[in-house]
Amino acid sequence: MAPLRYTLLALLVFLSDRSAATDTVSPGDVLAGKDRLVSKNGKFALGFFEGPVYTDNGESSAPMWFLGIWFNTVPNLTTVWVANGAEPIMDGASAAGTSPELTISGDGDLVALHPAAKSITWSTQSANVSTKNTTNNTAAVLLNSGNLVLLDTSNQSEPRTLWQSFDHPTDSLLPGAKFGRDKLTGLNRRLVSKKSMAGPSPGAYCFEVDPDTPQLILKLCNSSITYWSSGAWNGQYFSGIPELIGNSPGFHLAFFNNSREEYLQFNVSNEAFVTRNFIDVDGRDKQQVWLDASQDWLTLYSNPKVQCEVYGICGPYSVCSYSLLPLCSCMKGFSVRSVKDWEQARDMQKDKRRVTIGVVVGASVAALAVLVFVVVLFIIRRNKNKNSSQNCGSLVAFRYKDLRSATKNFSEKIGEGGFGSVFKGQLRDSTGIAVKSLDGSSQGDKQFRAEVRSIGTIQHINLVNLIGFCSDGDSRFLVYEHMPNRSLDTHLFRSNVKFLDWSTRYQIALGVARGLCYLHESCHDRIIHCDIKPQNILLDASFLPKIADFGMAKFVGRDFSRVLTTMRGTMGYLAPEWISGTPITPKVDVYSYGMVLLELVSGRRNSVRSEEYTTSTSTDTDGSHAAVYFPMQASRKLLDGDVMSLLDQKLCGEADFKEVEKVCKIACWCIQEDEVDRPTMGQVVQILEGVLDCDMPPLPRLLQRIFERPSSVSSTSVLLFLSVSNSMLPFGQQLIKS
Ligand SMILES: *[C@@H]1O[C@H](CO)[C@@H](O)[C@H](O)[C@H]1NC(C)=O
Ligand SMILES: *[C@@H]1O[C@H](CO)[C@@H](O)[C@H](O)[C@H]1NC(C)=O
Ligand SMILES: *[C@@H]1O[C@H](CO)[C@@H](O)[C@H](O)[C@H]1NC(C)=O
Ligand SMILES: *[C@@H]1O[C@H](CO)[C@@H](O)[C@H](O)[C@H]1NC(C)=O
Ligand SMILES: *[C@@H]1O[C@H](CO)[C@@H](O)[C@H](O)[C@H]1NC(C)=O
Ligand SMILES: *[C@@H]1O[C@H](CO)[C@@H](O)[C@H](O)[C@H]1NC(C)=O
Ligand SMILES: *[C@@H]1O[C@H](CO)[C@@H](O)[C@H](O)[C@H]1NC(C)=O
Ligand SMILES: *[C@@H]1O[C@H](CO)[C@@H](O)[C@H](O)[C@H]1NC(C)=O
Repeated sequence: MAPLRYTLLALLVFLSDRSAATDTVSPGDVLAGKDRLVSKNGKFALGFFEGPVYTDNGESSAPMWFLGIWFNTVPNLTTVWVANGAEPIMDGASAAGTSPELTISGDGDLVALHPAAKSITWSTQSANVSTKNTTNNTAAVLLNSGNLVLLDTSNQSEPRTLWQSFDHPTDSLLPGAKFGRDKLTGLNRRLVSKKSMAGPSPGAYCFEVDPDTPQLILKLCNSSITYWSSGAWNGQYFSGIPELIGNSPGFHLAFFNNSREEYLQFNVSNEAFVTRNFIDVDGRDKQQVWLDASQDWLTLYSNPKVQCEVYGICGPYSVCSYSLLPLCSCMKGFSVRSVKDWEQARDMQKDKRRVTIGVVVGASVAALAVLVFVVVLFIIRRNKNKNSSQNCGSLVAFRYKDLRSATKNFSEKIGEGGFGSVFKGQLRDSTGIAVKSLDGSSQGDKQFRAEVRSIGTIQHINLVNLIGFCSDGDSRFLVYEHMPNRSLDTHLFRSNVKFLDWSTRYQIALGVARGLCYLHESCHDRIIHCDIKPQNILLDASFLPKIADFGMAKFVGRDFSRVLTTMRGTMGYLAPEWISGTPITPKVDVYSYGMVLLELVSGRRNSVRSEEYTTSTSTDTDGSHAAVYFPMQASRKLLDGDVMSLLDQKLCGEADFKEVEKVCKIACWCIQEDEVDRPTMGQVVQILEGVLDCDMPPLPRLLQRIFERPSSVSSTSVLLFLSVSNSMLPFGQQLIKS
């Protein structure tokens, strides 16, 4: 621990050069104004800062002085601890040019003093523990962990901790800090949200260890209302957040319960890593890591996932509804009272549309609430039904000679598939059709039946419409609506076809996601398409995407979550579980969809080697060799915040950056090696629609790997994709050896 010698040395340095950083306040030292304590590793700083105080009405005061600890390497002030969030140490404005002073008091406490009155405005109040004879032997040290400790250094070989900031957390939990209760003293270390982003005044939301069960709860601080819980700790993870595995390389999380204490703690093996768990002003618990390359926080997860689950987010007599914009609106018969509060809630919600219903506060209006709930639910249902185009028109059984005349004796061939050819035709009412002829083999017959069974019974605007079929002797035909703009791969990979602008690509991504979501979630049987690729995404006259080719589709009964089946699909889009031979779930489509998204962004095939990418990857800091694999490239650029360089050059940079980033994030999330790490298509639709934030690309594996190799972000993404790429052996692309 910090020996006195070091303290003295630090003091000398401090005296000789006031601007040089020290991590210690010793008796006689005074820290004021812009003076800082900086932890030895340079990661944390402690000092005074100015910020407004927020009242319950959301009104802010003139800036006041606070004492706090923040990340020294993050440019925007991001506090991890504030000494006095509820009560500022001193007026800012009224005492221009002066600031409070931090020093060791006569009885050995660390105190903040008003500079003129010399009155104590904040204190560690440990005087009971220390005694008068330690006055000259106490020191406050800002440790590398971000913990500010007050030490009794009278026994140099064994300094005693008199007080520590880790015992009085504010809104953030740092690695190594205990989060929970000391059963002997009754101390409850819990997190309290801030009322506003701009100042440290404490807000209404608390995050703490449930005294009865080994779980974490989010609640209203002043009441027993719990709006989210993590589920019980099972020794490895909390049942409600399985993505947060306790024992991953580089990242350790554990829940302890013994006779003295019950607490949660997480550690990261690399101390240089800047990460925090905090409760945000919106009442959600978030885990974030700081990425130097993009100079921004990456949210690894946040809970609850859905904002409307946060209790009272809208205030009394308001309803929280995802179908409303902004999120909060007054209930009938009520009007906005505190405009500031209201605006704050709205800001918080900006850019978000919602899909379900949240919380209504106020028991007296509960009945009305139920009514609103039902009405909004009804509207949502209706809209949903509208989208998935109703009437399951029955299939037409064509006669062979009708098809022959409609296709002018099968003269205009527009496609060639695995099991047959596709011809263009026209019905008598001039409806354009595409007629697919399947060969008479048993494979062809299988495909025929699969297709009639699947898309013959379901209808959705983003699924190609099967009009009818023809079974005549050995010949099998399927008749579809004609798609004048052919398939997505034509537009992406061929140079002689009009290329798609960004907004069209985004609409295609959304349409395909909706179609898949419908297949996976809305039908009587779950349907897994099994062969999602650009060739099977057709475009109608207005470039609306339609998923086609259900010949490989697999049905999974409602009661089953997975199905064992023979390998099917197309190399380059195959999820790893196909190769490992485990039973599959709809997540195989999610994987393929992720691969398609990357191709949609880049306008190039994922699996093609390219010289230009070779040159850029060869500069990898970790010396790994050129990995000519676009998905890996994409993940790295994503982490570097440089997604625009991934964009199809034909677009000349003309695309909405936020949208490109969103699509890349989703893609990287979809192609996670482990199916449980991938989103559902429902989540993808919500993110693309802007309903769900993708600020939680829940990269558990990425998380692990970042923690393992924090020094270089690019190496982490390489590691992230190591597993993916290894499972892509059919490509014959040997990627990296770790
Ligand atoms: C200090 O001692 C006084 C009186 O003995 C007690 O009331 C107070 O709670 C103690 N303070 C702390 C921080 O233990
Ligand atoms: C304070 O000093 C007295 C006399 O030097 C000593 O007996 C006592 O143990 C000291 N107290 C502590 C807490 O160190
Ligand atoms: C602390 O140090 C000051 C100045 O060095 C001295 O006057 C005072 O007696 C010391 N107090 C104790 C309790 O040793
Ligand atoms: C300091 O602490 C060590 C370890 O507990 C102990 O052995 C030693 O006697 C103490 N020294 C003094 C001066 O109290
Ligand atoms: C919670 O209660 C404390 C004391 O009873 C009060 O000072 C504080 O303002 C309350 N906080 C909220 C958010 O109601
Ligand atoms: C800790 O263990 C005790 C005794 O087994 C139990 O009563 C208590 O509820 C546990 N605490 C938590 C938070 O699980
Ligand atoms: C974190 O590190 C501390 C100190 O090395 C250790 O005592 C604790 O058990 C670790 N906690 C976890 C969850 O690994
Ligand atoms: C830092 O502050 C600037 C200016 O307020 C803001 O534009 C930027 O988004 C902030 N960065 C982060 C990472 O919060």
